[in-house]
Amino acid sequence: MEDAYLVLSKLTKTYPNQPRPAVRDVDIDVARGEFISLLGPSGCGKTTTLRMIAGLIVPTSGGIRVGRVDMTNRPVHKRDMGMVFQSYALFPHMSVGENVDFGLQMRRIPKSERRRRVAEALDMVHLTHLANRRVSQLSGGQAQRIALARALVIEPTVLLLDEPLSNLDAKLREELRVEIRRIQQETGITTVFVTHDQDEALAMSDRLVVMSEGRVEQVGEPWAVYETPRNRFVADFIGRTNLFDGLAVGRDDGLLRVAVEGLGTLSVRTPETGRTSVTVMVRPHRVQLEPVEQLANELKGRVVQSSYLGDVESVVVEVDGVRITAERTHSGRPLALGAEVRLGWGDTDAYVIPQ
Ligand SMILES: Nc1ncnc2c1ncn2[C@@H]1O[C@H](COP(=O)(O)OP(=O)(O)OP(=O)(O)O)[C@@H](O)[C@H]1O
Ligand SMILES: [Mg+2]
Repeated sequence: MEDAYLVLSKLTKTYPNQPRPAVRDVDIDVARGEFISLLGPSGCGKTTTLRMIAGLIVPTSGGIRVGRVDMTNRPVHKRDMGMVFQSYALFPHMSVGENVDFGLQMRRIPKSERRRRVAEALDMVHLTHLANRRVSQLSGGQAQRIALARALVIEPTVLLLDEPLSNLDAKLREELRVEIRRIQQETGITTVFVTHDQDEALAMSDRLVVMSEGRVEQVGEPWAVYETPRNRFVADFIGRTNLFDGLAVGRDDGLLRVAVEGLGTLSVRTPETGRTSVTVMVRPHRVQLEPVEQLANELKGRVVQSSYLGDVESVVVEVDGVRITAERTHSGRPLALGAEVRLGWGDTDAYVIPQ
C-alpha cells in the first residue's frame, strides 16, 4: 500500500515451549486514519498481534513500523499508542478526571494544557458531568468510555482496542459501536480493533483482517470479504452461509454448471476457475422460498427447521438429504415444519469459492 502508516511485516510470535507460532508471518498495512478490525475465532492470535503492536509482547521475528519509524524494539511508553482492553483497567483509587489526566502527567504536560485536554477528551465521550466521580461508581459502559478518553487524551499515533465492548450487554454494545466509530472519524486516528464478533467488525471497519490459527486468511472491505470470500474458512466464518461441494461438469457463456449430490446440476455465473472440484456459496438471504419468477436454480424440499426472529425468518429446507438455509423477510406466519416448499436462486446469487 502506497500510503501505509502502520505496517506489520512478517510478524511472528512463538511463545516459550510452544510447538507452533501463535502468530505467523502476518503482513498488514494500515493507512493513516483507517479503522481496521482483526477478526477470527478464539485463539487465532488477535490479542497476540495487537500486543506486539503495542510493545507488550516482543515478536519472535518480523517488524512493526509507524510512519517512517521502526517500532519493533521500542519500549511501550515510547510508542505513544493508546490502548483499551476488554476489562476496564482504570485506576480504582483515582477519580474519572484523574484517570484521564494520568497519561498527560506522565508526559510532563503543563497543567493548563492538561486541564484543557482532559476536558476535551471527556467531552468527546459525553461524560464531562462525571469528571469528579470515583471510577468504582461507574457503569460498565461509562467505564469503557473513560478508558477510551484516557487512551485518546495523549493524542496517540495509533489506537489499539482489544474487545472493548465484550463485557457490555447487547444494546449498549451497539450504542458504543457507533460512538467509537464517530470519535475515530472525528479524530481521524488510525485504529486497530480486535473482536470475534463479526457483526461488530462488519459494521465498524474500513477493512477487515480475517485470521485463523495465527495466519491472515483475507484482508478487504467488509462487503468484499462477505460477498467474495477467498476460501472456505472465510466463507463459513463471516455471515451465515450455504456451501455446496460439487464437480464442474460444463460451461457455456459465463455460466458454470456444477453437479452437487442431491441437488442435481447448479448454474453459477462466474469467471473461469479451471478447477473441477468446486465449492458453491449461496447466502441464505439470496435463497427465495416459493419464488414467483423463474430462476436458474429451482428445487423442491421439506421444511425441517424454522426460527422466527421477528425481522427475519430463518428456514432450513431439506432437499434430497441436503440442508439449505433460507431467510424470509416478508414473514407473517412462519412456515410449518414438514411443509413442502419450492426454493431457488438466480445464477448471480451464487459464488464459487476460489480455493
Ligand atoms: N502467554 C502465553 N503463553 C503461551 N501461549 C499463549 C500465551 N498467550 C496466548 N497463547 C496462545 O496463543 C494463541 C493465540 O492467543 P491470543 O490470545 O492471541 O488469541 P485471540 O485471538 O486473542 O483469542 P480470544 O478471541 O480468545 O481472545 C492461543 O493458542 C493461546 O493459547
Ligand atoms: Mg484475545
